[in-house]
Amino acid sequence: MHFLNGLIEYYIFLHENSIIFVENYLVIRMEKTITGFSKFSKEEKIDWVVSTFFDDADSARKTLGQYLNSNQIIQDVHDDFIENTISNFYLPYGVAPNFVINGKEYTIPMVIEESSVVAAASLVAKFWSTRGGFKATVLSTTKIGQVHFMYEGGVHELKAYFEEAKDQLIEVTDAITKNMRKRGGGILDIELRDKTAELANYYQLHITFETKNSMGANFINSCLEAIAATFRNDSIQIVMSILSNYVPECLVRAEVSCPIDRLHKENAKQFAQKFQQAVQIANIEPHRAVTHNKGIMNGIDAVVIATGNDFRAIESGAHAYAAKSGKYKSLSQCEVKDGIFKFWIEIPLALGTVGGLTALHPLAKLSLEMLQNPSASELMEIIAVAGLAQNFAALRALTTTGIQQGHMKMHLSNIIKQLDATEEEKNYLLNYFANKQVSHSAVVAAYQKMKE
Ligand code: HMG
Repeated sequence: MHFLNGLIEYYIFLHENSIIFVENYLVIRMEKTITGFSKFSKEEKIDWVVSTFFDDADSARKTLGQYLNSNQIIQDVHDDFIENTISNFYLPYGVAPNFVINGKEYTIPMVIEESSVVAAASLVAKFWSTRGGFKATVLSTTKIGQVHFMYEGGVHELKAYFEEAKDQLIEVTDAITKNMRKRGGGILDIELRDKTAELANYYQLHITFETKNSMGANFINSCLEAIAATFRNDSIQIVMSILSNYVPECLVRAEVSCPIDRLHKENAKQFAQKFQQAVQIANIEPHRAVTHNKGIMNGIDAVVIATGNDFRAIESGAHAYAAKSGKYKSLSQCEVKDGIFKFWIEIPLALGTVGGLTALHPLAKLSLEMLQNPSASELMEIIAVAGLAQNFAALRALTTTGIQQGHMKMHLSNIIKQLDATEEEKNYLLNYFANKQVSHSAVVAAYQKMKE
């Protein structure tokens, strides 16, 4: 068979029960593709995957099965979150106690696979709890959605059409916004933006929202689609309507400060200076800024996931904010002035404490209860603090002992596990390395020596 798809010429052959696509000289044997997979039962899906992709199908089936939840109610909940589930990918759920934020005590739940993050958060929480704790303030809570459209006519006519339609554009969302308005939220404004200098004929309706305790993605997108349907006409061609995960006006600030001499037992002044230099370096050097901000996201993502929020939205928004000046920079800042050390972060965080996974995932619900059922604004404060704490821990380690000492101390049990050590051997190695530098090769050497 022969067909043309755009400019690419295809030949299709049936060969030994498999389809071969020939595109120019590229031959792709379609032996591992399938139609109708979504309609299979879970068992059929597992059968197909293990028999198609694994040499040892039984072993693959066993591993997938081990992570399926024996509690059918929990498994049903997971199966509803996404499509084509064949197992679960568990992440550890830890807690970091002793946080004091705006005078209130918290134990913060963290979901993360990386060792030393929870320990570092716990260490720093305790450290600052005796130095006034963390202070956090929500600076703004505005979310954004956009209707992107093309229009070839005159800009004055478009502006006149928009001004005339504006009230109606808000009215058509009345049914969607009714409950949100009762809670004090809804559409804040609709603005027409001319983007034709950057892309021919391109305009936007830039719409701002207040979504109170919900993250608001579905609410915003429903409003946008209703607005777009009303706004379109023969000369306005809607390209798409979607919320923006860049929310520079949904901003929170978290801060710690104390007299310099309370920072460190010895050399407090030198500690403060090196710490500040580390932040300054992250401000001017993008290679360092990315790693610096990754350390912040260790704390942020872990709590975002634990509370059932969308970490991809938070990540992309945070990094866009870090690059808002046109250069990628540190999300945190440090000042050492008049004998006071001050360290703070400003970060956009669009979060929800109602709706989405927060209501569906039993552990997300439990996390929120552990955090004393915060409003979305309080959760913004808590999560910004988790990011700042993590950043403080990393910079404290980096500018003093180096990161590896603490990180490897926490990573020790992972290395031991890879060696298949017995419980007795594990305890011996943990004791042996209690006061020694940990490295992968040192642990392997100690293990081998112990076995001799
Ligand atoms: P330490 O001083 O050796 O800990 O620090 P310790 O054994 O003396 O214990 C003190 C406290 O630390 C404990 O108090 C706990 O709060 C916590 P206690 O509970 O005893 O009252 N702690 C623990 N909590 C739970 N489980 C544990 C545990 N151990 C201590 N097993 C520590 C050890 C790892 C905390 C420290 O060295 C540290 O903070 N290191 C930094 C670790 C870090 O930042 N990890 C992030 C991963 S590295 C990375 O990805 C980011 C990076 O690239 C970012 C950047 O470059 O900026 C670094």
